[in-house]
Amino acid sequence: MHADKTNRMIYDYLRSATLQFAQDQYGVHLSPDLLQVQKTRKEFSGDFTIVMFAISKIAKKSPETCAGELGQWLREHYGNIVGSFNVIKGFLNIEIVSGFWIDFFVAAADQDYFRIKPTESQKPVLIEFSSPNTNKPLHLGHIRNNLLGHSLAEILKASGKQVVKLNLVNDRGIHICKSMLAWQRWGNGETPESSDTKGDHLVGKYYVLFDQHFKEELRQLSGSGSNEEDAEAKSALMADVREMLRRWENGDSEIRRLWEMMNTWVYEGFDETYARIGISFDHTDYESDTYLLGKDIVLEGVQQGKLIRKDDGSVWADLKPINLDEKLLLRSDGTSVYMTQDIGTACSRHERYEPQLMIYVVGNEQNYHFDVLKKVLDQLGFAWSDKLLHLSYGMVELPQGRMKSREGTVVDADDLMEEMYETARKTTMELGKIDEFEPDELNKLFHMLGMGALKYFILRVDPRKTMLFNPQESIDFNGNTGPFIQYTHARIRSVWRKAIESGWKTGSMAELIYLQPEKLPAKEKELLRILYEFPMVVKEAGDGLSPATVANYAYELAKEYNQFYHEFSVLHEKDVTLARFRLALSVLTGRVIKSAMQLLGIEVPERM
Ligand code: ARG
Repeated sequence: MHADKTNRMIYDYLRSATLQFAQDQYGVHLSPDLLQVQKTRKEFSGDFTIVMFAISKIAKKSPETCAGELGQWLREHYGNIVGSFNVIKGFLNIEIVSGFWIDFFVAAADQDYFRIKPTESQKPVLIEFSSPNTNKPLHLGHIRNNLLGHSLAEILKASGKQVVKLNLVNDRGIHICKSMLAWQRWGNGETPESSDTKGDHLVGKYYVLFDQHFKEELRQLSGSGSNEEDAEAKSALMADVREMLRRWENGDSEIRRLWEMMNTWVYEGFDETYARIGISFDHTDYESDTYLLGKDIVLEGVQQGKLIRKDDGSVWADLKPINLDEKLLLRSDGTSVYMTQDIGTACSRHERYEPQLMIYVVGNEQNYHFDVLKKVLDQLGFAWSDKLLHLSYGMVELPQGRMKSREGTVVDADDLMEEMYETARKTTMELGKIDEFEPDELNKLFHMLGMGALKYFILRVDPRKTMLFNPQESIDFNGNTGPFIQYTHARIRSVWRKAIESGWKTGSMAELIYLQPEKLPAKEKELLRILYEFPMVVKEAGDGLSPATVANYAYELAKEYNQFYHEFSVLHEKDVTLARFRLALSVLTGRVIKSAMQLLGIEVPERM
C-alpha cells in the first residue's frame, strides 16, 4: 500500500488491519469503535499507538503478548507501512516507514490536497449566530458569538458540509419601543448624521436614556412604599411604552415610520461592525416577519388540544409531564413573547431549507429557553425538533477594572476592536518589525494583527467555558497567540522570497521533494506527521463543534516549525537535496497554517 492520496486516514487503516489480525489470529470479532488507535505520546518512540486491552480481554491473553504478536504480524503483512515497533505494557507503538511520509508530502504538495468539496445532494446545516436586538450596539459577548459562528461555518464547510449562515434580528417588542419612546420624547430630531454618531450607538444612547428616566420615576414612586413590580405597573413611562407596542402591532403608520427609521440606523451600524469583524450571513430572519407565524402555530396547537388556554385567555405549553414548568406562549392580551417568534422562525427555516441540523450559537444564559423551545416544538408534533442543537457558550469577561464602556456595564464591540488595533500598532512599532511598509499596508497589518490577537485568544478556548479576555496577553508575539502564528507565516513566506531572490530554481513544489526516504531526518518527519493530521483535526473540530481544536493545532504546528527553523537552516544547508526538501516543507507548513487560521476567520500576513 502507498501513502493514501485520497485522504483516507492512517488511523482507519491501522484499525482495519488490526481488526483483521484479531479475526484471523484469535477468531475475535471486535466492533471498530472499541479499538483505540492514537498518536504516540512524546515520551515513547513511535508514530502511532494501538491500545490492546479491548482485544486482549476477549482473546484471553495478556495485553503484552497480544501487542507483540500484532507487531510481528503487521511487520509481515504491512511491511510497506509499518517499520519498527515496541511494546510498552498493553500499548503497541509503531513507527511508520519514511517512504509513507514522503509519499504523503508529494501528494500534499498539490494545492488541492486538503480541499474537500461539499456533496451536492446533502441537506444543509444551518448555523444561527449573532442574533442581536435592535436597541443597542454589539458587545464583547457578541464578539465571542460571532467568532464561534463564523469559524464553525468554515470548519463544517471544510469537512464537506453544506452550510447556511443565518442571523436572527429581534427587531420588535417592548425593549425596542423603549429607545423609540426616548428618542421621540428627548431626541430633538437627532440623527446619526447630525450627531456624527454610529447609528447603533445613537439608538443605544436612547435606550440608556430611557432607563435613566425610568429609574428616576421609580425612585419617586417607591417613596410611597410600593415594591418594584407595583412601581412598574404604576409607571407612566412604561404605560406609554406598552401603548407604543400596541400601536406598532396595529400597524400605526407614525410608529412604524419611527421604528423603520431607527432600525435602519441600527442596521447601518451593525453592518459596519460585522465588516470589521469580518463576518457575513447568507440570510437574515427578522422577528417582525416570523412572530405572526409563531402566533398562528400556537393558536393551531390550542385547537388541536396540544396547548392549554387559561381563563384569562393566555396560552401555555404544559411541560410538567417532562419535569419542566408551564411555559407562556401568548399573553392574555394576545401579544406574543420571545418563545413565540422562535417557534415561527424555526418552522419557517425548516420549511425553507429542510436542514439536517439547526445549530443555534447562543450564550448559556439561554439554556432553559432552548431546552423548552425544543420540547414545545416536539409537543406541537414537529418530528424535526430533534434537529435543533443549542451551542451554548460561556461568558467572556475582561480583567477587573478595565474598559468600562459608555454604558458603564458591558464592553462595546467597536471600542474593543479599536483598542486592539491601537495595541497592535504600539506593539509592532516597539518591536520595530516593520521596515519598508506603505502607510496603507501598515494600516492593514495592524488591523490583521489586532483582530488576529482578539480572535485567536477567544477561539482557542473551549466554547462552553467561561473565559477572561486579556488584551495585552493576546498580542504577545511569543506566546500561544494569533500574532505568534501570524508571524510564523510571514517568516515562512520570507524564506520563500529569499530563495527566489537568491536564484533558487524552485519549479513546482513536487519537484523540490527528491529526498531518499532513508535520509528523512527526525524533525522533518515530525513536521510531516503534524501536517498529515490536519484533515483529522478539522473533522474533530466539526464533530465537537469546537474551533479550539483547530486553534491549538495551528499553534502546535507553528511552534514545531519555529523550533525546526531555529535548529536547522533552510537556505544555508549544504546538502542541496535536503535544502530543497526543507524549503518545500516550509511552504507546505505555511499553507496549512494559513488554511487553519482561515478556518478561525484570521488572516495571515505575507510579511511583517
Ligand atoms: N436577541 C436575543 C438576545 O439578544 C438572542 C436571540 C438568540 N436566538 C434565538 N433564536 N432565540 O438575547
